[in-house]
This record gives sequence, structure tokens and C-alpha cells, in this order.
Amino acid sequence: MKNKSKLSQLLPGRRKFFVTLGWSLLGFAFTGMAWIIGRFLSYSQNDPGLEPVHFGPPEKYPVDTTVTRGKVALFRDQAGFWAVTTICPHLGCKPLFESEGRVFVCPCHGSRFDCEGRLLNGPAEKPMALAMLNLDPHGNLVVYPKKAVPPGHRFKP
Ligand code: FES
Repeated sequence: MKNKSKLSQLLPGRRKFFVTLGWSLLGFAFTGMAWIIGRFLSYSQNDPGLEPVHFGPPEKYPVDTTVTRGKVALFRDQAGFWAVTTICPHLGCKPLFESEGRVFVCPCHGSRFDCEGRLLNGPAEKPMALAMLNLDPHGNLVVYPKKAVPPGHRFKP
């Protein structure tokens, strides 16, 4: 009898605990969703991860070279160098370069771009940006992913 009354005293406490736990979990879920939506809406080309990328001396890269590093891909043809900022303009995923077809394919929703970042098929509606290239004071190639250059641009060191 005594045990039963102790049990009934505990039940409201347990109920309150589970209600509090439920509300807490719901709060965490809403906070998580708000963070994801905020991150999605705040995507921009000014991503802090877009720092200059150093590639070393240009002589290291013969004609027809392709090198990917960080969020840029460096190419060289007879006319010079160019670099593509590998951020999908659809929702910001990182398209992967397929050397066989010389195309970038976005793993998120399948947008495809040619090796100069031009859009081949969506859902993206814009091309990927070409990034500015320059030489540092030591004569090494540096790609500046935050600085876009016009389509077709070539850098000749
Ligand atoms: S993020 Fe690249 S296709 Fe959607």
C-alpha cells in the first residue's frame, strides 16, 4: 500500500519529465531546421572558404593540364591558363570534374558544366564562375576564387 502511493507520487513527475523532454527535442529539431534554412538562404560566392589558392610555378603545368585543388580547378591550353570556381550556382555543392568527358557534374542534383564552367544542363541556371589568376611576387600561380573574370578569359604568365 505504501509502495503504491509512492508510485502514484512518482507518476506526475515522470509525466512532467517526458513532456519536458518532448518539448526539448522539438526545440532542438526547430533550431536545427532554422540553422539549415539560414545556411541555405545565406549561401553566397563570398564564402569564407574561398581564399586564394596557390599552384606554384606555371612551368609545372604543361598544355592540357587539369588540376583541382580546394574549390578551384586550374586548366591550361595553347592559349593560356584559366580557373573555374567549383561551386555549383544552383545550391552551392561542389561539382566534380570528370576528365573523360571534360565536364563538371554536380553530385547534388546533377547539373553539368563544361571545363570552362559553362552550363550544359540544370537545374542550375547559371554557369560556374571563372576565377582571376595572377602571379605572386615569387612568380607562382595564384587563383583568386572571389574575383570573377569574363567567360573565355585566359591568363598568360
Ligand atoms: S547544387 Fe548543384 S545541381 Fe543542385
